[in-house]
Amino acid sequence: MTTSSHSSTQNQTSGMWGGRFTEATDSFVAEFTASVQFDQRFYRQDIAGSIAHATMLAKVGVLTEQERDDIIQGLTEIQKEIEEGRFEWRVDLEDVHMNIEARLTDRIGITGKKLHTGRSRNDQVATDIRLYVRDEIDATLQLLSKLQKGILSLADQHTATIMPGFTHLQTAQPVTFGHHLMAWFEMLFRDSERLIDCRKRVNRMPLGSAALAGTTYPIDRTYTAQLLGFDTASENSLDAVSDRDFAIEFNAAASLIMMHLSRMSEELILWTSAQFKFVNIPDRFCTGSSIMPQKKNPDVPELVRGKTGRVYGDLISLLTLMKGQPLAYNKDNQEDKEPLFDAIDTVRGSLMAFADMVPALVPNQAEMREAALRGFSTATDLADYLVKKGIAFRDAHEIVGKAVALGVQEGKDLSELKLEQLQQFSDLISADVFDKALTLEASVSARNHLGGTAPAQVQAAIQRAHQRLEQLYA
Ligand code: ARG
Repeated sequence: MTTSSHSSTQNQTSGMWGGRFTEATDSFVAEFTASVQFDQRFYRQDIAGSIAHATMLAKVGVLTEQERDDIIQGLTEIQKEIEEGRFEWRVDLEDVHMNIEARLTDRIGITGKKLHTGRSRNDQVATDIRLYVRDEIDATLQLLSKLQKGILSLADQHTATIMPGFTHLQTAQPVTFGHHLMAWFEMLFRDSERLIDCRKRVNRMPLGSAALAGTTYPIDRTYTAQLLGFDTASENSLDAVSDRDFAIEFNAAASLIMMHLSRMSEELILWTSAQFKFVNIPDRFCTGSSIMPQKKNPDVPELVRGKTGRVYGDLISLLTLMKGQPLAYNKDNQEDKEPLFDAIDTVRGSLMAFADMVPALVPNQAEMREAALRGFSTATDLADYLVKKGIAFRDAHEIVGKAVALGVQEGKDLSELKLEQLQQFSDLISADVFDKALTLEASVSARNHLGGTAPAQVQAAIQRAHQRLEQLYA
């Protein structure tokens, strides 16, 4: 950050509002109240908004065409200066808006001072953040789509790979790995739906609301909105300059994405442990220990799990920021940016890592199968088998409980007990019990309905998922 000037156009008191002031802003206060350190991030949106504003002002006759062209050319060159690292950001000019405007006046003279006709930084900043969040939503949706497709391709290879399904983290019933992955897909699909829905409310244009009450110039807001790709102009100027719901909504959607990634992380951390051994994460996503030579740590999932807290924190910051504000704009609103940017960066980084890592996961099919066999995961199937032979479910539950107790005693799965051993609990058990109920394959294949874990259902769910993605992102 530099405070040097390019041939300053300010007077000796206080930047853009020197007229009313009799002494310069205290240098600490200038630094304390500035936002250019972080809002320079949306210079592109600021320049795009200014170009659209100037174009509209010329259309309605407030600027001449020559003035409009000079402004557009000046702003285009400023954008180049910024992108080539030649722009000097000045803290004494407070924010991205005044830095760019002052530089414009440096470059094109008095016409630069006309750009701010009929607008205020209040509607300008509200417009800039909306443009910025809109771009970020689109980029986040791209990453989500990449991750979703990665999950589908892995699931497609494992529609019949059997693993234990858990409740209470205790082995419950066998499921297919493909089915488990498709549960992840569903979580992330809803996340995309939420972002797409949130985008509708982001994509409304505050510009023209000016400071709070609108402006006396004959502006054409619908035209400016069209130029900037907004769906519509906002309806109420007081609301438009002060509303930050859209940022909160985005952060809430980002929090849910992180919550989902964190749950996936937790599973990956468990699954890669020596106690589970279900999955191998390729070395490029892991690190070792400086002291324990055998260690390979699942850093990416651990970090994503950890970073989830920051995004929740950002959400709480934004909610708290807004709760006490009377209409309309208050300087408090400047505090919306850092939490919002932090949430954006965190969710994007996490999605990027996951989109690369998930399709590269290598499941250990033998270990998964062995674990499913070790947890009496087909006990419910045996109970269902008895029910089909006429026994009431509660009685069947009791019978199977006894069979499991024998299995525990002998260190064997139900499918490994002898037929005669099973028959001592019910004479309705016959030789078909192994094929119909006790094997892992029989168990998963029997759950053959929409949303069930049968390989055929998982295959069909994957097909539908491809279509649903196409529709969603159309
Ligand atoms: N930097 C300010 C922000 O981020 C821009 C708007 C300032 N408006 C004002 N009246 N002080 O909110």
